[in-house]
Amino acid sequence: MKTFKIAIDGPAGVGKSSTAKAVAKKLGFVYVDTGAMYRSVGVYCLDNNLQPEEVVPHLDKISIDMKYIDDIQYVYLNGEDVTKKIRTPEGSIYASKVAVIKEVREKLVSLQQQMGMHNNVVMDGRDIGNRVFPDADAKIFLTASAEKRAERRFNELNGTVPYDEILNDIKFRDKNDSTRKIDPLRPSSDSVIVDNSDMTLEETILHIYNICIERIEK
Ligand code: DC
Repeated sequence: MKTFKIAIDGPAGVGKSSTAKAVAKKLGFVYVDTGAMYRSVGVYCLDNNLQPEEVVPHLDKISIDMKYIDDIQYVYLNGEDVTKKIRTPEGSIYASKVAVIKEVREKLVSLQQQMGMHNNVVMDGRDIGNRVFPDADAKIFLTASAEKRAERRFNELNGTVPYDEILNDIKFRDKNDSTRKIDPLRPSSDSVIVDNSDMTLEETILHIYNICIERIEK
């Protein structure tokens, strides 16, 4: 059975998840948040006092499940609900650190490919167009300036975390994600680059939905 695959890649804090989730809903496809998978492996390290590179021999013991209840994503790590834990600043940093490890990427990429074999998917991440689904029906690279992304996150957190701290975290992750040796964050040659610095979330969703529809109906 042919399944449709939509790849949405881009840097941290650009609105990939909100956009991909809404586009998936409009298309009736399954949304897969691959960042949540890397975050879960990061939380496994934190919970077990492991340095990121020490996680490799544990990979076979790690199971990650994602469920949607009333449009809300819940993430389970070996059966434990880690939905909140994976979003802490420490969780973000550890996610970025485990994401440079070859064995971690191999395991998660293979899980993601299996998801796409059985479902029509909208998948967001960093390497979806380049690695997970080089044959995706549509590849979008969603981007915005680091300052704009930090500003949005600052507003989302109602000013509870200083702007400079958020900007530094975004810049740290941008550097880590785009300079790593394996599958660095970069647009594939056949992706459509969408800069949403001056777009609202609704505009971004509609724009990407229209690109997907055009590709799917081809
Ligand atoms: O999208 P996110 O911020 O939840 O991702 C968390 C971390 O995982 C981020 O630092 C990059 C990494 N990641 C990755 O390397 N490849 C993916 N497909 C998804 C996320």
